Amino acid sequence: TAKFFRNNILKGKKVLVTAGPTYEPIDPVRFIGNHSSGKMGFAIAEELYMQGADVTLVTGPTYETLVYKGIVRRNVTSAQNMYDACHEYFADTDIAVMSAAVADYTPETIATEKVKKKEDSWALGLTKTKDILFSLGLIKQPHQFIAGFALETNNEKENALGKLRNKNADCIVLNSLNDNSAGFGFDTNKITILHKSGEEINFELKSKKEVAKDIVSFIISKIYG
Ligand code: CTP
Ligand code: CA
Repeated sequence: TAKFFRNNILKGKKVLVTAGPTYEPIDPVRFIGNHSSGKMGFAIAEELYMQGADVTLVTGPTYETLVYKGIVRRNVTSAQNMYDACHEYFADTDIAVMSAAVADYTPETIATEKVKKKEDSWALGLTKTKDILFSLGLIKQPHQFIAGFALETNNEKENALGKLRNKNADCIVLNSLNDNSAGFGFDTNKITILHKSGEEINFELKSKKEVAKDIVSFIISKIYG
């Protein structure tokens, strides 16, 4: 096994990272999901760990694996599961990075048996999920730092700034899907970080590992700056 050395800049800091999609069950065999791979969140968790933090990673279903065994991995399935896990850890968290692609809607009811095909169409009733980032923003203490994400295809900056304000985040990582080699399924990403102070930093298209380094360096600069 390869030797690795962790920095200690984040030593003693407790970090919560969310990653991946959520799966919203329809019946015992079906769900509503999304294309999130979990790559970005896993890369952030590993970078935070390498900077010395105690990291808990709450992740939806993904094929990603962690390189470092010291990270606590908590697997969840639905948006409600992820909400519950995050609230379990948040009081004891210094930094939260919410990179999961949480489902916005979930089936109103979960059928206990497999739904049989009958009619030519099937209208599924959906209800809004709880917004995890918003709920943490409501209870955030002054010493806590929360980074949110925003996935946008249009009116990007305006929408991301709205999320920064409405969810009481300290910064928002804007993920632009306009670049056709960034985001879901790709190993690269192009981000802009918007801080609550009005500061805005635009980054080049980079590997998700490099993007994770940029995000973590930014957070470190704000926490100790
Ligand atoms: N988020 C969350 N819980 C939800 C939905 C979103 O915690 N139920 C978080 C995401 O993890 C991300 C941020 O909120 O950090 C923004 O997610 P995004 O999907 O871009 O925005 P929404 O507020 O869900 O709005 P919309 O999807 O309509 O753009
Ligand atoms: Ca959403």
